[in-house]
Amino acid sequence: MPVVLGIEGTAWNLGVAIVDDEDVIVERADAYLPVSGGIHPRDAAQHHADSIVGLLRQVLTFALEKGLKIDAVSFSQGPGLGPCLRTVATAARAIALNFNIPLIGVNHCIAHVEVGIWKTGASDPITLYVSGANSQVLSYNRGRYRVLGETLDIGVGNAFDKFARSIGLPHPGGPRIEEHARGGERYIELPYTVKGMDFSFTGLTTAAREAYERGVSLSDLCHSFQETTFAMLVEVTERAVAHAGKEEVLLAGGVGANRRLQEMLGIMCDERGVGFYVPETRFLGDNAVMIAHLGNLQLKARDVTPLEESGVNPSFRPDEVRVTWK
Ligand code: ATP
Ligand code: FE2
Repeated sequence: MPVVLGIEGTAWNLGVAIVDDEDVIVERADAYLPVSGGIHPRDAAQHHADSIVGLLRQVLTFALEKGLKIDAVSFSQGPGLGPCLRTVATAARAIALNFNIPLIGVNHCIAHVEVGIWKTGASDPITLYVSGANSQVLSYNRGRYRVLGETLDIGVGNAFDKFARSIGLPHPGGPRIEEHARGGERYIELPYTVKGMDFSFTGLTTAAREAYERGVSLSDLCHSFQETTFAMLVEVTERAVAHAGKEEVLLAGGVGANRRLQEMLGIMCDERGVGFYVPETRFLGDNAVMIAHLGNLQLKARDVTPLEESGVNPSFRPDEVRVTWK
Protein backbone atom coordinates (compact mmCIF):
# COMPACT_ATOMS: atom_id res chain seq x y z
CA MET A 1 0.00 0.00 0.00
CA PRO A 2 1.52 3.34 -1.08
CA VAL A 3 2.69 5.93 1.43
CA VAL A 4 2.45 9.54 0.20
CA LEU A 5 3.84 12.78 1.60
CA GLY A 6 1.73 15.86 0.79
CA ILE A 7 2.54 19.54 1.16
CA GLU A 8 -0.10 22.30 1.32
CA GLY A 9 0.68 26.00 1.28
CA THR A 10 -1.66 27.83 -1.09
CA ALA A 11 -2.48 30.62 1.36
CA TRP A 12 -2.54 30.92 5.16
CA ASN A 13 -1.75 27.36 6.19
CA LEU A 14 1.51 25.55 5.65
CA GLY A 15 1.09 21.84 6.29
CA VAL A 16 2.88 18.58 5.69
CA ALA A 17 1.26 15.15 6.06
CA ILE A 18 1.90 11.50 5.31
CA VAL A 19 -1.02 9.19 4.53
CA ASP A 20 -1.65 5.70 3.25
CA ASP A 21 -4.88 4.18 1.91
CA GLU A 22 -6.27 3.68 5.36
CA ASP A 23 -5.45 6.70 7.41
CA VAL A 24 -3.38 9.75 8.28
CA ILE A 25 0.04 8.62 9.50
CA VAL A 26 1.37 12.00 10.61
CA GLU A 27 0.46 15.64 10.07
CA ARG A 28 2.21 18.87 11.08
CA ALA A 29 1.07 22.42 10.31
CA ASP A 30 2.17 25.98 10.93
CA ALA A 31 -0.41 28.69 10.20
CA TYR A 32 0.48 32.19 9.06
CA LEU A 33 -1.44 34.93 10.83
CA PRO A 34 -1.18 38.41 9.32
CA VAL A 35 0.02 41.05 11.77
CA SER A 36 -2.60 43.45 10.42
CA GLY A 37 -5.28 43.31 7.73
CA GLY A 38 -5.68 40.32 5.44
CA ILE A 39 -3.17 37.86 4.01
CA HIS A 40 -0.13 39.51 2.37
CA PRO A 41 1.05 37.05 -0.33
CA ARG A 42 4.76 37.78 0.05
CA ASP A 43 4.66 37.69 3.86
CA ALA A 44 2.80 34.39 3.74
CA ALA A 45 5.35 32.96 1.30
CA GLN A 46 8.19 34.11 3.56
CA HIS A 47 6.46 32.40 6.49
CA HIS A 48 6.19 29.18 4.46
CA ALA A 49 9.85 29.39 3.39
CA ASP A 50 10.97 29.88 7.00
CA SER A 51 8.88 27.01 8.28
CA ILE A 52 8.89 24.30 5.62
CA VAL A 53 12.24 22.69 6.42
CA GLY A 54 11.34 22.25 10.08
CA LEU A 55 7.96 20.68 9.27
CA LEU A 56 9.44 18.33 6.68
CA ARG A 57 12.17 17.28 9.09
CA GLN A 58 9.55 16.44 11.74
CA VAL A 59 7.40 14.23 9.52
CA LEU A 60 10.35 12.56 7.78
CA THR A 61 11.95 11.74 11.14
CA PHE A 62 8.63 10.25 12.24
CA ALA A 63 8.47 8.14 9.05
CA LEU A 64 12.06 7.01 9.48
CA GLU A 65 11.43 5.91 13.06
CA LYS A 66 8.40 3.90 11.91
CA GLY A 67 10.47 2.31 9.14
CA LEU A 68 8.21 3.79 6.44
CA LYS A 69 9.34 4.37 2.89
CA ILE A 70 7.76 7.36 1.11
CA ASP A 71 6.50 6.39 -2.34
CA ALA A 72 5.66 9.83 -3.75
CA VAL A 73 5.40 13.52 -2.85
CA SER A 74 2.39 15.63 -3.79
CA PHE A 75 1.84 19.39 -3.60
CA SER A 76 -0.84 21.97 -4.43
CA GLN A 77 -0.15 23.20 -7.94
CA GLY A 78 -2.96 25.77 -7.59
CA PRO A 79 -5.18 27.68 -7.23
CA GLY A 80 -3.63 29.96 -4.65
CA LEU A 81 -1.26 32.84 -4.05
CA GLY A 82 1.63 32.73 -6.55
CA PRO A 83 4.52 33.32 -4.12
CA CYS A 84 3.14 30.71 -1.68
CA LEU A 85 2.58 28.14 -4.43
CA ARG A 86 6.12 28.59 -5.76
CA THR A 87 7.65 28.12 -2.31
CA VAL A 88 5.79 24.86 -1.75
CA ALA A 89 6.44 23.55 -5.28
CA THR A 90 10.16 24.14 -4.81
CA ALA A 91 10.16 22.14 -1.57
CA ALA A 92 8.20 19.30 -3.21
CA ARG A 93 10.62 19.14 -6.17
CA ALA A 94 13.56 19.00 -3.76
CA ILE A 95 11.99 16.06 -1.88
CA ALA A 96 11.20 14.21 -5.13
CA LEU A 97 14.76 14.64 -6.43
CA ASN A 98 16.40 13.83 -3.11
CA PHE A 99 14.48 10.57 -2.57
CA ASN A 100 14.14 9.81 -6.27
CA ILE A 101 10.36 9.39 -6.00
CA PRO A 102 7.50 10.62 -8.24
CA LEU A 103 6.30 14.20 -7.94
CA ILE A 104 2.53 14.78 -8.12
CA GLY A 105 0.96 18.20 -8.63
CA VAL A 106 -2.66 18.27 -7.44
CA ASN A 107 -5.56 20.68 -7.77
CA HIS A 108 -6.29 22.20 -4.35
CA CYS A 109 -10.08 22.43 -4.89
CA ILE A 110 -10.36 18.77 -5.89
CA ALA A 111 -8.23 17.84 -2.86
CA HIS A 112 -10.87 19.50 -0.62
CA VAL A 113 -13.54 17.32 -2.28
CA GLU A 114 -11.59 14.04 -2.27
CA VAL A 115 -10.61 14.25 1.40
CA GLY A 116 -14.28 14.82 2.24
CA ILE A 117 -15.29 11.75 0.25
CA TRP A 118 -12.53 9.72 1.92
CA LYS A 119 -13.34 10.80 5.45
CA THR A 120 -17.15 10.68 5.28
CA GLY A 121 -17.80 7.70 3.01
CA ALA A 122 -19.84 9.76 0.54
CA SER A 123 -19.62 8.20 -2.92
CA ASP A 124 -20.77 10.60 -5.62
CA PRO A 125 -21.91 13.86 -4.04
CA ILE A 126 -22.68 17.35 -5.18
CA THR A 127 -20.02 19.30 -3.28
CA LEU A 128 -20.51 22.78 -1.90
CA TYR A 129 -16.90 23.97 -1.63
CA VAL A 130 -16.77 27.21 0.31
CA SER A 131 -13.50 28.77 1.41
CA GLY A 132 -11.79 32.13 1.53
CA ALA A 133 -10.82 32.48 -2.09
CA ASN A 134 -13.23 29.99 -3.65
CA SER A 135 -16.92 29.19 -3.67
CA GLN A 136 -18.10 26.54 -6.09
CA VAL A 137 -20.72 23.86 -6.50
CA LEU A 138 -18.98 20.83 -8.00
CA SER A 139 -20.27 17.64 -9.54
CA TYR A 140 -18.31 14.72 -10.96
CA ASN A 141 -19.46 13.69 -14.41
CA ARG A 142 -17.69 11.74 -17.18
CA GLY A 143 -14.06 12.20 -16.22
CA ARG A 144 -14.17 15.70 -14.77
CA TYR A 145 -15.34 17.70 -11.80
CA ARG A 146 -17.77 20.14 -13.41
CA VAL A 147 -18.35 23.55 -11.87
CA LEU A 148 -22.16 23.80 -11.82
CA GLY A 149 -22.22 27.13 -10.03
CA GLU A 150 -19.67 29.54 -8.57
CA THR A 151 -19.06 32.99 -7.24
CA LEU A 152 -18.93 35.78 -9.78
CA ASP A 153 -16.64 37.85 -7.59
CA ILE A 154 -15.11 36.88 -4.23
CA GLY A 155 -15.26 33.67 -2.20
CA VAL A 156 -17.79 33.66 0.63
CA GLY A 157 -15.02 33.32 3.26
CA ASN A 158 -13.39 36.39 1.78
CA ALA A 159 -16.71 38.23 2.09
CA PHE A 160 -16.86 37.30 5.79
CA ASP A 161 -13.25 38.39 6.30
CA LYS A 162 -13.72 41.69 4.42
CA PHE A 163 -16.88 42.61 6.27
CA ALA A 164 -15.31 41.68 9.61
CA ARG A 165 -12.22 43.75 8.89
CA SER A 166 -14.29 46.75 7.80
CA ILE A 167 -15.95 46.85 11.22
CA GLY A 168 -12.74 46.29 13.17
CA LEU A 169 -12.86 42.55 13.85
CA PRO A 170 -9.54 40.70 13.44
CA HIS A 171 -8.65 38.23 10.67
CA PRO A 172 -10.00 35.62 9.96
CA GLY A 173 -13.45 37.11 10.35
CA GLY A 174 -15.57 34.03 9.62
CA PRO A 175 -15.49 32.48 13.11
CA ARG A 176 -16.05 35.91 14.76
CA ILE A 177 -19.11 36.59 12.65
CA GLU A 178 -20.50 33.18 13.55
CA GLU A 179 -20.07 34.01 17.27
CA HIS A 180 -21.74 37.41 16.99
CA ALA A 181 -24.56 35.96 14.88
CA ARG A 182 -25.61 33.71 17.75
CA GLY A 183 -26.95 36.75 19.59
CA GLY A 184 -28.82 38.10 16.55
CA GLU A 185 -32.61 38.17 16.37
CA ARG A 186 -33.70 40.74 13.86
CA TYR A 187 -33.24 40.07 10.14
CA ILE A 188 -31.97 43.04 8.17
CA GLU A 189 -32.47 42.69 4.45
CA LEU A 190 -29.20 42.52 2.47
CA PRO A 191 -28.66 42.12 -1.30
CA TYR A 192 -29.40 38.53 -2.36
CA THR A 193 -27.64 37.88 -5.65
CA VAL A 194 -28.13 34.59 -7.46
CA LYS A 195 -27.78 34.73 -11.25
CA GLY A 196 -28.60 31.43 -12.87
CA MET A 197 -26.37 29.00 -10.98
CA ASP A 198 -23.87 31.64 -9.89
CA PHE A 199 -23.79 33.98 -6.92
CA SER A 200 -22.01 37.13 -5.84
CA PHE A 201 -21.01 38.62 -2.50
CA THR A 202 -19.39 42.04 -2.91
CA GLY A 203 -22.63 44.06 -3.03
CA LEU A 204 -23.85 42.34 0.11
CA THR A 205 -20.52 42.95 1.88
CA THR A 206 -20.66 46.67 1.12
CA ALA A 207 -24.32 46.90 2.15
CA ALA A 208 -23.55 45.19 5.46
CA ARG A 209 -20.77 47.66 6.23
CA GLU A 210 -23.10 50.56 5.44
CA ALA A 211 -25.78 49.10 7.72
CA TYR A 212 -23.20 48.87 10.49
CA GLU A 213 -22.30 52.54 9.95
CA ARG A 214 -26.03 53.38 10.22
CA GLY A 215 -26.01 51.81 13.67
CA VAL A 216 -27.57 48.37 13.12
CA SER A 217 -26.50 46.11 15.99
CA LEU A 218 -23.50 43.90 15.33
CA SER A 219 -25.26 40.67 16.28
CA ASP A 220 -28.33 41.38 14.11
CA LEU A 221 -26.05 42.26 11.24
CA CYS A 222 -23.87 39.15 11.58
CA HIS A 223 -27.03 37.04 11.80
CA SER A 224 -28.42 38.64 8.64
CA PHE A 225 -25.09 38.34 6.85
CA GLN A 226 -25.00 34.60 7.50
CA GLU A 227 -28.67 34.00 6.69
CA THR A 228 -28.40 35.81 3.35
CA THR A 229 -25.09 34.38 2.11
CA PHE A 230 -25.97 30.85 3.20
CA ALA A 231 -29.47 30.99 1.67
CA MET A 232 -27.83 31.82 -1.67
CA LEU A 233 -25.42 28.88 -1.36
CA VAL A 234 -28.13 26.46 -0.28
CA GLU A 235 -30.43 27.53 -3.13
CA VAL A 236 -27.79 26.83 -5.77
CA THR A 237 -26.70 23.56 -4.12
CA GLU A 238 -30.30 22.39 -4.10
CA ARG A 239 -30.73 23.18 -7.78
CA ALA A 240 -27.47 21.35 -8.56
CA VAL A 241 -28.75 18.25 -6.74
CA ALA A 242 -31.95 18.37 -8.79
CA HIS A 243 -30.24 18.99 -12.15
CA ALA A 244 -27.51 16.39 -11.71
CA GLY A 245 -29.83 13.84 -10.10
CA LYS A 246 -27.37 13.11 -7.26
CA GLU A 247 -28.30 11.66 -3.90
CA GLU A 248 -25.62 13.13 -1.69
CA VAL A 249 -24.35 16.56 -0.67
CA LEU A 250 -20.83 17.06 0.68
CA LEU A 251 -19.64 20.21 2.41
CA ALA A 252 -15.98 21.24 1.90
CA GLY A 253 -13.74 24.25 2.60
CA GLY A 254 -13.03 26.40 5.65
CA VAL A 255 -16.45 28.10 5.74
CA GLY A 256 -17.96 24.63 6.10
CA ALA A 257 -17.01 24.81 9.79
CA ASN A 258 -19.93 27.19 10.27
CA ARG A 259 -22.72 25.47 12.26
CA ARG A 260 -25.49 27.53 10.77
CA LEU A 261 -24.42 26.66 7.23
CA GLN A 262 -24.30 22.98 8.22
CA GLU A 263 -27.76 23.26 9.72
CA MET A 264 -29.30 24.99 6.68
CA LEU A 265 -27.80 22.48 4.23
CA GLY A 266 -28.87 19.63 6.50
CA ILE A 267 -32.48 20.83 6.45
CA MET A 268 -32.46 21.14 2.65
CA CYS A 269 -31.02 17.61 2.31
CA ASP A 270 -33.59 16.16 4.74
CA GLU A 271 -36.41 17.78 2.82
CA ARG A 272 -35.15 16.35 -0.46
CA GLY A 273 -34.28 12.97 1.04
CA VAL A 274 -30.60 13.11 0.08
CA GLY A 275 -27.61 12.23 2.27
CA PHE A 276 -25.62 15.05 3.84
CA TYR A 277 -21.92 14.64 4.62
CA VAL A 278 -19.59 16.90 6.59
CA PRO A 279 -16.06 15.80 7.48
CA GLU A 280 -14.38 16.67 10.79
CA THR A 281 -13.41 20.35 10.94
CA ARG A 282 -9.69 19.54 10.51
CA PHE A 283 -10.47 18.23 7.01
CA LEU A 284 -12.66 21.20 6.00
CA GLY A 285 -10.15 24.07 5.98
CA ASP A 286 -6.80 23.94 4.23
CA ASN A 287 -4.80 20.91 5.35
CA ALA A 288 -1.98 18.76 4.03
CA VAL A 289 -3.86 15.48 4.48
CA MET A 290 -6.09 16.33 1.52
CA ILE A 291 -3.05 16.98 -0.68
CA ALA A 292 -1.38 13.72 0.38
CA HIS A 293 -4.63 11.79 -0.15
CA LEU A 294 -5.25 13.14 -3.67
CA GLY A 295 -1.56 12.45 -4.37
CA ASN A 296 -2.17 8.86 -3.32
CA LEU A 297 -5.22 8.54 -5.62
CA GLN A 298 -3.23 9.96 -8.54
CA LEU A 299 -0.20 7.79 -7.79
CA LYS A 300 -2.32 4.65 -7.94
CA ALA A 301 -3.68 5.85 -11.31
CA ARG A 302 -0.04 6.49 -12.43
CA ASP A 303 -0.96 10.14 -12.87
CA VAL A 304 2.32 11.78 -11.86
CA THR A 305 3.88 15.11 -12.83
CA PRO A 306 7.14 15.34 -14.78
CA LEU A 307 9.47 18.03 -13.36
CA GLU A 308 9.09 20.14 -16.49
CA GLU A 309 5.30 20.21 -15.98
CA SER A 310 5.44 21.01 -12.28
CA GLY A 311 5.03 24.77 -12.64
CA VAL A 312 2.33 26.34 -10.47
CA ASN A 313 -0.96 27.81 -11.68
CA PRO A 314 -2.50 30.44 -9.37
CA SER A 315 -5.86 30.25 -11.16
CA PHE A 316 -5.97 26.45 -11.67
CA ARG A 317 -9.64 25.43 -12.07
CA PRO A 318 -10.96 22.05 -10.99
CA ASP A 319 -12.61 21.46 -14.38
CA GLU A 320 -9.19 21.64 -16.08
CA VAL A 321 -8.22 18.34 -14.45
CA ARG A 322 -8.79 15.07 -16.25
CA VAL A 323 -9.81 12.73 -13.42
CA THR A 324 -7.74 9.57 -13.77
CA TRP A 325 -8.55 7.87 -10.46
CA LYS A 326 -12.28 7.19 -10.69
P1 ATP B 1 -8.94 28.18 -0.66
O1 ATP B 1 -7.55 28.29 -1.22
O2 ATP B 1 -9.55 26.84 -0.88
O3 ATP B 1 -9.81 29.31 -1.04
P2 ATP B 1 -8.53 29.24 1.96
O4 ATP B 1 -7.13 29.65 1.91
O5 ATP B 1 -9.54 30.27 1.89
O6 ATP B 1 -8.76 28.12 0.90
P3 ATP B 1 -9.82 27.63 4.04
O7 ATP B 1 -9.12 27.14 5.24
O8 ATP B 1 -10.46 26.62 3.16
O9 ATP B 1 -8.68 28.45 3.32
O10 ATP B 1 -10.93 28.70 4.45
C1 ATP B 1 -10.63 29.83 5.21
C2 ATP B 1 -11.86 30.72 5.25
O11 ATP B 1 -12.89 30.09 6.05
C3 ATP B 1 -11.63 32.08 5.86
O12 ATP B 1 -12.20 33.05 4.99
C4 ATP B 1 -12.39 32.03 7.18
O13 ATP B 1 -12.91 33.26 7.60
C5 ATP B 1 -13.51 31.07 6.84
N1 ATP B 1 -14.09 30.43 8.03
C6 ATP B 1 -13.49 29.64 8.94
N2 ATP B 1 -14.34 29.30 9.92
C7 ATP B 1 -15.54 29.88 9.62
C8 ATP B 1 -16.82 29.92 10.25
N3 ATP B 1 -17.06 29.29 11.39
N4 ATP B 1 -17.80 30.63 9.64
C9 ATP B 1 -17.58 31.28 8.48
N5 ATP B 1 -16.40 31.30 7.86
C10 ATP B 1 -15.39 30.60 8.42
FE1 FE2 C 1 -8.56 25.71 0.52
